[in-house]
Amino acid sequence: MSKEIKKWWEDNSKTFQEESKVPIGITYGPAVPTENKLKLIGNLKGKNVLEIGCGGAQCGIGFAKRGANVIGIDLSKEQLKYAKSLIEKNKVKIKLLQGDMVNLHQIKSNSQDIVFSSWALFYISDLKKCFKGVYRVLKKKGIFVFSTNHPFWKIIDSKTLRIKKCYYKNGRYETCYKGTYVSYYHLISELVNNLISAGFILERIEEPDQRIKDKYTSKEIVPENYKIKAMKFVPRTIIFKARKI
Ligand SMILES: C[S@@+](CC[C@H](N)C(=O)[O-])C[C@H]1O[C@@H](n2cnc3c(N)ncnc32)[C@H](O)[C@@H]1O
Repeated sequence: MSKEIKKWWEDNSKTFQEESKVPIGITYGPAVPTENKLKLIGNLKGKNVLEIGCGGAQCGIGFAKRGANVIGIDLSKEQLKYAKSLIEKNKVKIKLLQGDMVNLHQIKSNSQDIVFSSWALFYISDLKKCFKGVYRVLKKKGIFVFSTNHPFWKIIDSKTLRIKKCYYKNGRYETCYKGTYVSYYHLISELVNNLISAGFILERIEEPDQRIKDKYTSKEIVPENYKIKAMKFVPRTIIFKARKI
């Protein structure tokens, strides 16, 4: 786990939750159609769901409201504190664990029907270890559904729409944004090949067409207007569905 990433989330959780207003429900990222439309997951009644990088547990609450038994893991104490209050407000039960999604030692092998992650995998460098851990905790035929930043989004300057970096330069990416902001940039081939080498079969990739209004709220996100414009040209989010065989 990166100390810088943990620090960023401890310092910025409060403003992130105030500004992003992540809605309750099974969502895949800003301006992306939700699970209600994408229907990647299916019936959740009585299913065991592990959410890695659960943040404020808005998605976890969405799963719990549909009858799933949910565990949420996040590295940030502040994010989990926010999650706890939201869970109480929504009167559902979710087990929260502070931990690293790259090291799922707190979760029993073959125990989960679904592992889910929304917009969190770009904070880890070791996809191989993470995907192997996810495979281990899933039951046979269990599914791993996750969204992450589309690599094309990372190479485009969303203000000028010019290519700002080389597609092939993967790995650590540091910027100054409310402190030192570290994320990791993964190529499509890295995401796919690490799923395959962990043992998964790939069932679906979604590149949501974001030339549409925000599906969370049906409104434009005013402070991010230039990003909305850039989304007319490149997808911001990519979603994978893989299955343990
Ligand atoms: C952009 S937020 C997304 C949260 C949530 N999935 C959502 O949709 O709102 C990313 C989350 O990933 C968490 N995170 C980053 N690196 C992590 C790691 N190695 N293990 C567990 N959680 C991590 C952060 O603390 C943060 O809560």
